[in-house]
Amino acid sequence: MSGAERLPPVRWTEVRVLAPVEWCELVGEVLAAACPNGVAFGRPSLAAEPPPDGLDYVRAFAADSVDDAAWRARVRAEVAALAEATGAPELAGLDVSFRELPPEDYATSWRKVWRPFRVGRLCLIPGWTPEWVARLRPGDVPLVFEPGGAFGSGRHPTTRMCLRALQERLAAGDAPRVLDAGSGSGILAVGARRLGAREALGFDVDPHARPYAEDLARRNDVSSCAFRTGGFECLSDADGTFDVVLANLYSDLLQRHAGELAARLAPGGWFVFSGCPDRHAEPTLRALAAAGLRVAETRRRGRWLAFLGRRVERAASPRSG
Ligand SMILES: C[S@@+](CC[C@H](N)C(=O)[O-])C[C@H]1O[C@@H](n2cnc3c(N)ncnc32)[C@H](O)[C@@H]1O
Repeated sequence: MSGAERLPPVRWTEVRVLAPVEWCELVGEVLAAACPNGVAFGRPSLAAEPPPDGLDYVRAFAADSVDDAAWRARVRAEVAALAEATGAPELAGLDVSFRELPPEDYATSWRKVWRPFRVGRLCLIPGWTPEWVARLRPGDVPLVFEPGGAFGSGRHPTTRMCLRALQERLAAGDAPRVLDAGSGSGILAVGARRLGAREALGFDVDPHARPYAEDLARRNDVSSCAFRTGGFECLSDADGTFDVVLANLYSDLLQRHAGELAARLAPGGWFVFSGCPDRHAEPTLRALAAAGLRVAETRRRGRWLAFLGRRVERAASPRSG
C-alpha cells in the first residue's frame, strides 16, 4: 500500500459557472487561482443537461480544507469582477454554484482526465500510470505523483514557471541546498532534489500539505527533503542559508516576507518567486528591491508573473583609520 493510500480521504467541492463560450478560458483562469486542483470545461457527463446555446460549464475543484464561507464569497466576487474588468456586459450576473462531491466521485473523474505531462525534462507521471516511466527519453527526469489535497500538481502556471526556471538554472553538477516557502504538495522541493539539489526544506501553513509532500518524497526515493507545517516562523529553527530560494506564494506574502527570504539566501545564491498576478507587480518588485533582492528576469504565463534573481551583494565597507 502506498503512502498516499494511507492518508485520510480528501473531500472535494466543485465550483460550477455557466459562462459564454468565448469567455470560458478567462473564467477558467479565475477559478484556477482559487481552485488549484484543476479546471474542466463542459458538462460533467453526457447524461447531464447540455448547456444552452452559446454557453458552457466551467468547473473547478477544491479540497474541503479551503472550502468555507469566506472562500466561497471570494470566488463569487472574483467571477463577478470580470464584467467590470473586461467591460463585457455578458459577464455580468454569471451564476456560480458550489457542490460538495463524494470522495469517490472526484477520485474517479480526476484519474480519467490526468495524463502524464512534462515541464522541460521533468516528467510528471500519475502514480496509477507507472507504465509511462518505461517510455521516458534519455535525459528525462521522472516525478511520480498522486494528486492530492495540497496545492501543487505541476499544472498551474505558477508552479510550471518555478520548475522550468529550476532546471534551467541548475547547471550540471550543481547540488544546491534549496528552500521552498509554501511547499504545498512538495512538488518544487522534491522536483529540486530529483534535478540534483543535495538537500531541500519546505514549509507550508496548510496542515494537510506535509503528509502529501512527504509521500511525494517517498514515492520518488528522495531523501534529505524535509517538510514542516507552519508559516515563516518555521525558518527560526532552520540552520544556515540556502543556495536557492523558491517561493510560489501570493504576492502579499512575497512582499511581507521578502526580508526573511533574502536573509536566508546564501551569497551567490538565486531565487525564483512565482505567484504574483501582474496587477501586483509594482509593489512586489518594490518590496523585493527594498529587501536587497535584485530581479534579473521577469517571466509571464497568462496573468501570472515569476521573478528570477539574486541577492544584492553588499560592497565591503572601507577600512577605517
Ligand atoms: C501557490 S501554492 C504553491 C504550492 C507549491 N509550492 C507549488 O509551487 O505548486 C502556495 C502555498 O503556500 C501556502 N501558504 C500560504 N500562506 C503561507 C505562509 N504564510 N507560510 C507558508 N505557506 C503558506 C499555501 O498553503 C499553499 O500551499
